[in-house]
Amino acid sequence: MQEIKFYSGENIPLELHKVRIVQKLNLVPIERRLQALFEGGFNTFRLSTRDVFLDMLTDSGTNAMSDNQLSAMMRADDAYAGSQSFERLQKAVEDVLDKKYLLPVHQGRAAENILSVAYVHKGSLVPMNYHFTTAMAHITDKGGNIAELLYDEAYVINSDHPFKGNMNIEKLEETINYHGPKNIPFIRMEASTNLIGGQPFSVQNLRDVRAIADKYKIRLILDCSLLGENAFLVLQREEEFKNSNMETVIKTMTGLADICYFSARKLSSSRGGGICTDSLEIFKELEAFIPLYEGFLTYGGMSIREVEAMAVGLYETLDETVISQSPSFIKYLVEQLDKKNIPVIKPAGVLGVHLDAMQICAHIPQTQYPAGCLAAALFLISGIRGMERGSISNQRDEYGNETYADMELLRLAMPRRVFTLSQVKYVEDRVTWLYDNRHLIGGLKFVYEPPVLRFFMGGLEPVNDWPEKLMAKFKEDFGESL
Ligand code: F0G
Repeated sequence: MQEIKFYSGENIPLELHKVRIVQKLNLVPIERRLQALFEGGFNTFRLSTRDVFLDMLTDSGTNAMSDNQLSAMMRADDAYAGSQSFERLQKAVEDVLDKKYLLPVHQGRAAENILSVAYVHKGSLVPMNYHFTTAMAHITDKGGNIAELLYDEAYVINSDHPFKGNMNIEKLEETINYHGPKNIPFIRMEASTNLIGGQPFSVQNLRDVRAIADKYKIRLILDCSLLGENAFLVLQREEEFKNSNMETVIKTMTGLADICYFSARKLSSSRGGGICTDSLEIFKELEAFIPLYEGFLTYGGMSIREVEAMAVGLYETLDETVISQSPSFIKYLVEQLDKKNIPVIKPAGVLGVHLDAMQICAHIPQTQYPAGCLAAALFLISGIRGMERGSISNQRDEYGNETYADMELLRLAMPRRVFTLSQVKYVEDRVTWLYDNRHLIGGLKFVYEPPVLRFFMGGLEPVNDWPEKLMAKFKEDFGESL
């Protein structure tokens, strides 16, 4: 992608779009934010956007849509069966992802459910570069287990490794030999490995995984939810693709997988999801589950308007000016925080900026959920809503014991083309203040813990009055400022 230089020499990302629909935000007083935290069980998922200033919870379903996506939604061909909108989506999947057969689903986890229902049994093991919460929940729900097979460098916070999402090829082969290929229904590769900080894998690594899959005759499934950004970073970081383009990289990656699935809330900046393949046999194996769980085969639980937006959004995934915006803003913020020695995952990845709560809240034991504490504290002092990606997001083991996360991260998502640079500077400012006052952040404990995916609706409370003390310090330093 062509670089745009500033005469001043400043190195800042430039928005290559203009804003034509806006939504007013609320920056409510800190006293209200404290009350909102208590009402929401110190869980940022349970906050209302009435109380949130910058919503950096996720990029899922929150990316800005383009003028072309919105106008396509107006021509939606609403039909239970045989909708032309679905035909346009099929064509987009064929053109962009290079897969012939498409099964529509209502969102990414619905694809994970169907793939697990179809292929996972008691005793199955699914090797993957790293788990995603919903992917793991559906596999374990069907009696299977997962094996996370990253290289050690993936867990190094302050790194310059370009592809921390790479699958450990030696461990993959060892795992297959140990458990036996028959017990391995598929290998799952996640593009832009979400929970370790949105870190990509290289095309070469995917080729190596493919070779192992071929050797042992195991299906390879690619989670394409963040494929566009993974492809963008391949263009930036993998020598072989230095002079290539998004279309080539994307098709090279999808071409290596037997099955691709995606959350269209991420890929294509719309809603919904899909499973696609070139194999008629696989298509037939999965087809019957769509009307059973999702809806008819030409809408899969989605509104037809979303189907139209998805088709246009898929083509826009090939546009580097669309896909580069979020990673370039992430890179900017990571660099600013890193200059102040605030621990963030490096190199900058995709999806968001990931603060290392294990270091920032080193005084809080993992039993008191440092990443959840940091998420609550940042919301309190800024109205910025991030997402805990640490032990609260982990699930208990089969005996009900806590399983502590490898990393305790606070993710500040950067949805595509949503925030401006001054808002990003506000994030930098408030994160810096919080870092300087980090000793005031305290622990949390569960008061309500749902048995499945507890992080969504779980309720916690502070172990003492640290939120009040943090608020008092904020008021001392900022006076009447919001
Ligand atoms: N796979 C990946 C890599 C994801 O990041 C997600 C969702 C899913 C699958 C599930 O898709 O939400 O449409 O059911 N990630 C969101 C996030 C929730 O905030 O990172 P879904």
